[in-house]
Amino acid sequence: MKKLYFGTNLKMYKNIRDTVDYLQKLVENTRDISREEIELFVIPSFTSLQSAAEQVDRRYVKLGAQNMCWEEQGQFTGEISPLMLQELGLDLVMIGHSERRHVFGETDIEENKKVLCALEHGFTTLLCVGETGEEKDYGISNEVLRTQLIVGFHGITPEQAKKLWVAYEPVWAIGVNGKPASVEYAEEKHQVIKACLRELFGAEIADEIPVLYGGSVSPGNACSLITQPSIDGLFTGRSAWQADPFNQLIRDAMAAAGRG
Ligand code: 13P
Repeated sequence: MKKLYFGTNLKMYKNIRDTVDYLQKLVENTRDISREEIELFVIPSFTSLQSAAEQVDRRYVKLGAQNMCWEEQGQFTGEISPLMLQELGLDLVMIGHSERRHVFGETDIEENKKVLCALEHGFTTLLCVGETGEEKDYGISNEVLRTQLIVGFHGITPEQAKKLWVAYEPVWAIGVNGKPASVEYAEEKHQVIKACLRELFGAEIADEIPVLYGGSVSPGNACSLITQPSIDGLFTGRSAWQADPFNQLIRDAMAAAGRG
């Protein structure tokens, strides 16, 4: 049976102490769950990463960075190099989160440069894709998703694709003003994403790439989302930022999926 993926992006929340406390509690709470069954990952702020990497048992939780520059060094004030992330021994780099695209204006071509660079430096690479509410209203969601995937993964070999993860996060579903996608809508878009991945990398490799749903995941919709055939995991924001409710959400979702 395939693993279920559960992860959270801490965005610009939690200081160093709170991040480490949260991670240690999450590890304690979930220690008994077999990591053959689940992949658990957390993506904290840059300033918390070093302490987190040193103080958290990484056999139980993978750690990722929220962004990364496509160059190793140079005149890139304010950016973080892949070498700096390697120094921390991180597992994972997230590229193209909706807030990077829509608040900070990152383009598909920039995301592609970052994805290529992250893979070249050996990181598991989580590319986030998702249409805006306006794009959805114009009926071009599938085209937008396909463009983000085709450009974002341009030049990646099927061999490199073995280290890719994808998160589908419709922009209109994310955050305090977000409205979660219906289970049917999310499943349909995951099918579009999986079909595009097959075109890019062939079925054998594409079908191993986990595609996670994110955007107002909560205790109320986690179980119905995770039981959809094309949803491999849940990428959660607000509902995962306390260790106890996140642990409960994971256990409920696992039970709904017939695991554990
Ligand atoms: P919310 O679950 O808070 O909507 O955030 C989702 C998200 O952006 C995860 O990266």
